[in-house]
Amino acid sequence: MPWSDAEYAEFRKNGYRLVRGLLSPQEIAGLNADVPALLNGDEAADRMHREREKSGAVRQVYGADRYAPRYRALARHPEILGPVRELTGNDVYVWHSKINVKDAFEGTVWLWHQDYGYWMWDGVEPKLISVMVLLDRATINNGCLMVVAGSHTWGRQEHYADTVTTSYKQWCLDVPTLKERVREDDIRHITGEPGDVLFFDCNLVHGSGHNMSPLPRKTFIVAYNDLANKPKPVENPRPDWVVAREFEAVR
Ligand code: SIN
Ligand code: MN
Repeated sequence: MPWSDAEYAEFRKNGYRLVRGLLSPQEIAGLNADVPALLNGDEAADRMHREREKSGAVRQVYGADRYAPRYRALARHPEILGPVRELTGNDVYVWHSKINVKDAFEGTVWLWHQDYGYWMWDGVEPKLISVMVLLDRATINNGCLMVVAGSHTWGRQEHYADTVTTSYKQWCLDVPTLKERVREDDIRHITGEPGDVLFFDCNLVHGSGHNMSPLPRKTFIVAYNDLANKPKPVENPRPDWVVAREFEAVR
């Protein structure tokens, strides 16, 4: 369903909007049926990229939208693309996509960050929109995403590289900045059911806790970039599984 003016206003005020039940249980079942093969695929053959937890469990799979037909179709879903194109005011292409796995009892924390804390270094302006599709129920226990409502209006904050907390180098906001800026009442838990979809601004501060539950917490996140915001040359260009260079408008 197209968003109303009030729903766009909600996104602009809070920096995010959660749409319940955008995908049907049948669509979610199909997407979940593909996951084992996507987690275990042969990287040399499929050109996807996988990050692992310290335990060895897969933490993220990048690029499913390029190689798995159901994920490709999902990244082109009209009820996702409609609002994304309206929010950017232009055609968009897929910047990257990832399945964030966060397996039962194993999935680890994402420290507070803005995605643009990473993407600024890729030579783009903060015009990207992310869309997170819940593939499993997301609860407080299984480490649902948490956001700081309205934090996109702060503009990009300094990030530092944390290399100790998880297996993965994470750019995150430092504690003094968090203490100064984050109010407890602005922290929102994005709990929901499979098929719910979160849209969020690239400067929205977000993170999530450890999965302390027997429920896995898989999500599929697609980041879209304005087609007029192609990356400018940078000193250390990142690989194309994380900074796509296929500038094809998705429709
Ligand atoms: C992310 O920020 O990309 C990951 C957050 C999460 O999966 O909880
Ligand atoms: Mn993020």
